Amino acid sequence: MDFRMMIAKCACEAMEKAFPGAAIQAEDAAGMLETPPDPAMGDYALPCFKLSKALRKAPPMISDALKANIEAPFLERVESVKGYLNFFVDRAMYAKEVLLAAEQAGEKYGSGDEGSGKTVVIDYSSINIAKRFHIGHLSTTMIGNALYKIYKFLGYECVGVNHLGDWGTQFGKMISAYKRWGDRETVMKGGVDEMVKLYVRFTAEAKENPALDDEGRAWFKAIEDGNPEALEIFNWFKEVTLADANRVYDMLGVKFDSYAGESFYHDKTAGVVEDLKNAGLLKEDQGAQIVDLEEYGMPPMIFVRSDGATLYATRDLAAIKYRHETYNFDKCLYVVAYQQDLHFKQLFKTTELLGWDWAKGCEHVNFGMVSYEGQALSTREGRIVYLEDLLSQSVEKAEAIIEEKSPGLENKREVAKQIGIGAVVFFALFNGRIKDIDFTWDRALNFEGETGPYVMYTHARAGSVLRKAGECDCAPDFSALSDPEAQAVIKLIDAFPDTIRLAVSRSEPSLITRFSVELAKAFNKFYYECRILDDDMGARAARLCLTKIAKQTIYKALDLIGIKAPERM
Ligand code: ARG
Repeated sequence: MDFRMMIAKCACEAMEKAFPGAAIQAEDAAGMLETPPDPAMGDYALPCFKLSKALRKAPPMISDALKANIEAPFLERVESVKGYLNFFVDRAMYAKEVLLAAEQAGEKYGSGDEGSGKTVVIDYSSINIAKRFHIGHLSTTMIGNALYKIYKFLGYECVGVNHLGDWGTQFGKMISAYKRWGDRETVMKGGVDEMVKLYVRFTAEAKENPALDDEGRAWFKAIEDGNPEALEIFNWFKEVTLADANRVYDMLGVKFDSYAGESFYHDKTAGVVEDLKNAGLLKEDQGAQIVDLEEYGMPPMIFVRSDGATLYATRDLAAIKYRHETYNFDKCLYVVAYQQDLHFKQLFKTTELLGWDWAKGCEHVNFGMVSYEGQALSTREGRIVYLEDLLSQSVEKAEAIIEEKSPGLENKREVAKQIGIGAVVFFALFNGRIKDIDFTWDRALNFEGETGPYVMYTHARAGSVLRKAGECDCAPDFSALSDPEAQAVIKLIDAFPDTIRLAVSRSEPSLITRFSVELAKAFNKFYYECRILDDDMGARAARLCLTKIAKQTIYKALDLIGIKAPERM
């Protein structure tokens, strides 16, 4: 039931009666309706000054006249106050409408099919080979994962891409270092850490002995030329890195449909360089091939270096083309830190200059930096927090809290994992993505305040009420949900579908995270103020229905941002 539209129609009919001949369209009236800031002023308000010009009457006169002509069973009452016509929807009817619709839709409540037949490619996480997965990768991984789930919920076909950073001379150096000082077993055991050690040693020794650099370059050339030994080692480095990363992805519940990264585009760069040439966009600049973007207020984008090598940008251009040809996407989202704002502006401008109209759906979904307990992270200064360590620590801390608060809980370990990891994910997705954030244990793992554990706890609390109530087959009396606490919960549940769509249109999963907190707060207020297990069975059934739908909606909101809420905690 669309109350806004129903009220708009009602207002139009009253207009006909009060001011014959001065008809307005229901759509226009619906557009004029406002939501009063305070529910005591009604659920909807029509500001009549918007009509006073056409009717040549003062707003209070209009609102009085309309009020006298309004009649509708779904309205509890209508008030005319200082030129505003305030509508009070019948609360029992509103509660019934919202709750029954959500109940019927079940876990699909809020979903849609507006994306049917459309494809979204999402480039997220996109880690670099032979580097460890650290806290700085949390945002891209979880924002991307959330967008993937949200788009899917709206019926889109999604392609999750981990655009691996697996190309560049550093991999030649790594092979050289490995051949000189490494051995298979140690790298197998130590994983990425061992590879990093080899690389650091290489860089240090190359300072003394520049011949090493030549050797590194030669090995990279060998990768490029497809030398079997070089490829074998290089691919093995990738396997080891991904095995390390997969442990983290498993903890976070994150998956990808493709790992086509930079090396995948190696043999596709010549094609796009040709495209640039044919479009007359390439210019020579000190031996390099560039696209001049001065006219657009940007530095040139380099596509071929003076030594003939291609760049990150060249491979990204090849990737856009490949993704278009392979997936025929409607949208292609790049979840990458704001440090790369310029890169993506230049890249998208280049596709525009190429006349690649289909690339209009590309969007850079940027985000801010993460610091840890007030400290900026820096690889160079060794201040680095690995994601795997952070998650494990969080699980341990959650386990300790459970041990203290509910020692008798079943599957403590499993629940601790859900809470510990959920707390970190929630923290990463709580603020608007462009904000820099500082991770602190106090804010992430607190059971009070705007945190994941708080929302998860509320979900479990609702579950416990429902278990305690058992079966209740009395018909619900929805008039028992007329109080402001219940109504506030219902309004939020009603707003869930729109919130999801707003999150998509702004590529902002944090809107759903915030929504989950608002709903949890409203539900807790209801829980404290209203007696759910009332002796009046009709009232009890209605409040249990509200509890069930609030729980279902919190669960889904968390699920959409990649968090699994435990049943008990
Ligand atoms: N590996 C890159 C980095 O760590 C991010 C890649 C993002 N995706 C892309 N298509 N450029 O900076």
